[in-house]
Amino acid sequence: MSKTMTAAMLLAALSFNPLFGQKKTIDQKVDSLLQKMTIEEKVGQLNQYSGRELTGPASDKKTDIASDIKNGWVGSMLNVKGVKDTREVQEMAMQSRLKIPLLFGLDVIHGYSTIFPIPLAEAASWDLEVIAQSAHVAATEAAAAGIHWTFAPMVDVARDARWGRVMEGAGEDPFLGSMIAKARVIGFQGKQLGGTDAIMACAKHFAAYGAAIAGRDYNAVDMSEVTLWQDYLPPFKAAADAGVATFMNSFNTLNGVPATGNSYLQRTILKGKWNYTGFVVSDWNSIGEMTRWGYAENAADAASKAINAGSDMDMEARVYRRNLVELVKQGKVKQNIVDDAVRRVLRKKFELGLFDDPYKFSDAAREQKVFGTDFNPVARDVAKKSIVLLKNERNTLPLQNSYNKIALIGPLVKAKRDLAGSWSLTPDSAKMISLYQGFENVYKATQLSYTKGGEILSATDEDIQQAVELAKQSDIVIMALGETWDMTGESKSRADIHVPGKQEALFNAVKATGKPVVVVLMAGRPMIFNDIADKADAIVYAWWLGTEAGNAIVDVLTGKYNPAGKLPVTFPHDNGQMPLYYAYLNTGRPYVGQKSKQYLSAYIDAPNTPRYAFGYGLSYTTFKYSDMKLDRTEMTAKDSIVVTCTVANTGKYTGEEVVQLYLRDEFASVVRPVKELKGFSKIKLEPGQQTTVRFVISNELLKFYNSQLQYISEPGSFKLMIGSASDDIRLDGTFKLK
Ligand code: BGC
Repeated sequence: MSKTMTAAMLLAALSFNPLFGQKKTIDQKVDSLLQKMTIEEKVGQLNQYSGRELTGPASDKKTDIASDIKNGWVGSMLNVKGVKDTREVQEMAMQSRLKIPLLFGLDVIHGYSTIFPIPLAEAASWDLEVIAQSAHVAATEAAAAGIHWTFAPMVDVARDARWGRVMEGAGEDPFLGSMIAKARVIGFQGKQLGGTDAIMACAKHFAAYGAAIAGRDYNAVDMSEVTLWQDYLPPFKAAADAGVATFMNSFNTLNGVPATGNSYLQRTILKGKWNYTGFVVSDWNSIGEMTRWGYAENAADAASKAINAGSDMDMEARVYRRNLVELVKQGKVKQNIVDDAVRRVLRKKFELGLFDDPYKFSDAAREQKVFGTDFNPVARDVAKKSIVLLKNERNTLPLQNSYNKIALIGPLVKAKRDLAGSWSLTPDSAKMISLYQGFENVYKATQLSYTKGGEILSATDEDIQQAVELAKQSDIVIMALGETWDMTGESKSRADIHVPGKQEALFNAVKATGKPVVVVLMAGRPMIFNDIADKADAIVYAWWLGTEAGNAIVDVLTGKYNPAGKLPVTFPHDNGQMPLYYAYLNTGRPYVGQKSKQYLSAYIDAPNTPRYAFGYGLSYTTFKYSDMKLDRTEMTAKDSIVVTCTVANTGKYTGEEVVQLYLRDEFASVVRPVKELKGFSKIKLEPGQQTTVRFVISNELLKFYNSQLQYISEPGSFKLMIGSASDDIRLDGTFKLK
């Protein structure tokens, strides 16, 4: 080592050594600030208000909030955005005694100004790079608009499509969900906090919110510990491991205890076992709601239960602000519990660099520059990769050049606002590319004709008749059907997830003309559409794809892009099947197509199988799987098995395939699912090209939670399956763990 290097290293070491007083660590800065704070100021840091009213027209709330901020009684605001407004509100905080900057939080769920596909759609890309990129663009735009913190990603596993918030997550699978959780955290937060293109992420909703009974939002959750650990916690753990800055708890109870007041979840698991050092924000008023659940006697009791259970920040319940100081003075809440929560919040403010410059994210020049940047090409790329081709009879798609008369029919053909889906901030409909515009960008106006065919929730006989007439005069019909944007999302549970209104009747009438019919379905959740599934010539599932939706869908329909999306959730045949997911337990009386269903685990009036399975999605080309090899068929807990197989593109188009690895532990001390995703690889092949796909099966992949909640593997035999979907296994084999 050279002399200069040694000197430089010594200098660096000294500057971080507190004894030399050069540069304090963040923890030291937090501690010295904490010593200066009154109990009121400490509780203030744990208080978050919504600022919708604050910078708008005058209201009583406005004065209250402003004076609380100036008094140092507010730690964070949500719903204040834009450089002008965030600066104005931060200036109020700078009038407080200690000038502790505010954190500005916002639900940047799938884009800020440029709208990306809803998270469930993005999950269908199984493309972690693309997902991270989408979050990065969202973070760049949000950070340029004064935002420090997004309440995303939602990493709740969701196995019931009735639940409206299924649209906000990565679907039903803990393995895929964990990978996506990590990608999103990295996308939002960048390498580390402090950059002006990075914002804090928030893993929500901790925990098990996705399992609300009967898919009804805000409902109770009753779940075994094994299921909680095995299926619902892994994406949260993945987010924590990826360094997610914050967690949000949830509205539901878990086995009788509200998540917000749940010390097992927040203290034992998150801050205990996982050693998590970020902070936990409550969900909107979830601390206050503990009284309505019947878990807290009154607001003071709710405050005490929440803070003791590890909820660090109170979002909009105002329960900490009104009760916590008194509770500490009375000795009902210990000072060190409050100090710990405040430390967690302050640490993040230091990490973001807000003490050096509270207006760091409120820079008008940067805002102008970033909002002048065209991110639409990225949005189009993510959107086309999120599309899933469900059906394609006789190669109906891609559309042939010979079609001269294309009829566009359906209530979503010209829709714009809907394309932004739920949880988009203030979508500018003028900027959204409708499906119709997507067609106009490629075809001559004379080739296109259109009729709406009624509304999403209703259609008259006349609407349907007009559609039939138009279909008759065309070479091919493209129908755009589905939900309205606000039929999925928070508090949008549906008891019936059929394509709504008379849209299937419209489809049936159009199909009866004998013309080829391509159906583009748009929604925030899986829907049921058995007639369409049976009779359409081709079906494209296009979710809500954001700003570039129309262009992306036309890219797929014309074959400019060969679709490769795979479903991250199961699509049922029937409402009564839900919750429905591929990783089910076999039962002692499995129904696998026997002649009689008598005394078997089956419905007498519906199938057990899904309409479309997890992992399913077609391509314009075909892939052949062959030549599976395991480098050994027995392993110990210390070894691993390398599995390889060949995948060849046997069709005419360049295409991508998501090669999926599933495992089944054939017998264990706790019954294991019939299959579980344990690996996937997205590959791209030219026609005629082939490649070797390789997976490594380590002991880690064989572990599960036993009844004592130990995470272990057990010796025995395992089935290994490689395929193109959870119900399309192309290669299988077995191996043993000794
Ligand atoms: C939702 C959260 C969201 C919060 C703030 C709540 O109703 O459950 O996911 O982050 O509102 O808007």
